[in-house]
Amino acid sequence: MTHVVGESCIGCKYTDCVAVCPVECFHEGPNFLVIDPEVCIDCGVCVAECPVEAIFDEKVLPAEQKEYAELNVRLAAQWPLITQSMEPLPDADNWADRQGKREHLMETA
Ligand code: F3S
Repeated sequence: MTHVVGESCIGCKYTDCVAVCPVECFHEGPNFLVIDPEVCIDCGVCVAECPVEAIFDEKVLPAEQKEYAELNVRLAAQWPLITQSMEPLPDADNWADRQGKREHLMETA
């Protein structure tokens, strides 16, 4: 099992998750982060750090976000590793409470 970054991350990228990760499992896209399930050790420390509660244990991933398990696998193979936290996206606070962000997920810049 692994942890999965879900929809709430889209448009935010607060990256507090990256700062606490004991391994290097996060990969960065233009407006979203994903977890490489091959590297994640399932420690769960990132879950509490995300200000928008975007990260789930795969076992409790909400039904409406099941697609994100596959998205994390696929995009982790495409996107570069991120190993240090950085400034959130400029409009992160406005995106934080938005729902239905899936259509805004950018796979390429
Ligand atoms: Fe995204 Fe939350 Fe990490 S917004 S970058 S999953 S801290």
